[in-house]
Amino acid sequence: MTLRLGILISGTGSNMGAILDAIAAGTLDAEVAVVISNKAEAKGLLRARDAGVPTRVLSHKAYADRAAFDRAIVEILREHGVTWVVLAGFMRVVTRELLAAFPDRVINIHPALLPAFPGVDAQAQAIAYGAKVTGCTVHFVDDGVDTGPIIAQEAVPISEGDDRDTLAARLLGREHQLLVEVLRKIADGKVSMAPSLEGERRRVVVAR
Ligand code: GRF
Repeated sequence: MTLRLGILISGTGSNMGAILDAIAAGTLDAEVAVVISNKAEAKGLLRARDAGVPTRVLSHKAYADRAAFDRAIVEILREHGVTWVVLAGFMRVVTRELLAAFPDRVINIHPALLPAFPGVDAQAQAIAYGAKVTGCTVHFVDDGVDTGPIIAQEAVPISEGDDRDTLAARLLGREHQLLVEVLRKIADGKVSMAPSLEGERRRVVVAR
């Protein structure tokens, strides 16, 4: 079924761009219904507007707390008939307000092999740690920071000469592919939650 995506960004929006490219190329059965940024200066907004996608800027600073900010986001997503929400470089922690409105329908792309290096600047964390391999993860969002059930991961080696920026650039290329691959699987109905017992970590099943 055609996915109606709401994409949340804070910056460049290259992952959002990869989604738009795949849709334009006819390789992803989705429509971007709306792009929301918490930063007015996010470059991704220009890219979205160029593609004719409705955009909204919602500064988190204008809201009393995270929950109020998320309620405003949910309202916009509903106005645009969104069925799935993608956090693509969205630098805010989301609350149950958003998660309850889109249960198991909010995904995030993270530039590390979770559960290693959650949170901000995962690329610099991996370099500083001396890791030899890192990667990227697409996961369902829960109310923790990068803790939700993992949908897909891709490993990326770290070379001796890498610094934060060379690594980030290499990771980004893989992120774009992985995120679009996951959305294709979702559109094909191939991503579901495994049955789990009370207190057990929820896991994702991805059909081939
Ligand atoms: C990506 O590395 C993403 O994984 C991280 O922030 C970066 C956003 O890049 N959460 P872009 O805005 O999609 O270009």
